[in-house]
Amino acid sequence: MFLLAMLGLIVGVFGVIMGNQWLYLAYAMFLGELMLAYGIFLAPKRIKISRYRESIGASPSVWLKVAFISDLHLQPKKSKSWVEKIVTKLQAEKPDLLLVGGDMVVHDAIDIQAFEPIKNLATTYGGFFILGNHDYQDNPKLISQKLSSYGLQSLINTGVSLTIQGKELRLSGADDGYYGIGNSKILQRQDGTPHIALIHEPDLIQDIPEGQTDLALAGHSHGGQIRFPVIGALHVPSVFGRRADIGRKIIKGIPTIITGGLGEVGCRARLFNPPEIVIIELGI
Ligand SMILES: [Fe+2]
Repeated sequence: MFLLAMLGLIVGVFGVIMGNQWLYLAYAMFLGELMLAYGIFLAPKRIKISRYRESIGASPSVWLKVAFISDLHLQPKKSKSWVEKIVTKLQAEKPDLLLVGGDMVVHDAIDIQAFEPIKNLATTYGGFFILGNHDYQDNPKLISQKLSSYGLQSLINTGVSLTIQGKELRLSGADDGYYGIGNSKILQRQDGTPHIALIHEPDLIQDIPEGQTDLALAGHSHGGQIRFPVIGALHVPSVFGRRADIGRKIIKGIPTIITGGLGEVGCRARLFNPPEIVIIELGI
């Protein structure tokens, strides 16, 4: 960043002296550096709320508010105060249910301690989590233990049935697609009960037989993290490519909401793709 700024300054001075094309190059570099500075210092600190309305019951008569967050990638520069900001935003939404889609840290499991403020979030039906590939790089057991101690329930390779105002909702979760143990049966609907499958990588949709869940929620792709107008994401880590970048998609016939997540990996920057909380008005 500093080197680019210096280079821009040199080209700028040279451009003033030489004029014409050099001046245009200096302008272009200056604009590029402004975008870079925004992507590194400002964009990762914003939070946008993306809203969806999904009806997954045959005759929905009960509506609840589901908050879905993922990919916080907690690390010393995105720590407790960042989580407090997220929790404040979530509290304002008064969610009935919280789902957490994994990749809680970058690689150091101990950084999960920054997630403690989630304890302060009140929900009607509780909070549930799965882990992502980054959570397996150090000590996944510690991360699971901490999340449980913060009041969240593990959905890793398991499911729960909730009774909500007389209606049933089935939630089930996958283990991580790279390091976990696969169990596609857990991701399927049971007895026609409205069903949500929580998966970390969108690629795990391949494990769900077509039509065997009503709604899949995924993270991992960060929406490409760096996006450009018109072009979109340059790279999305998925076999589905840019089809699995961000937003609501139909993949293999399954309605799927992919969040851009709340943290960063690799270059700690975002562009045209701020950190995101997903709120779903869910009809069952
Ligand atoms: Fe991931």
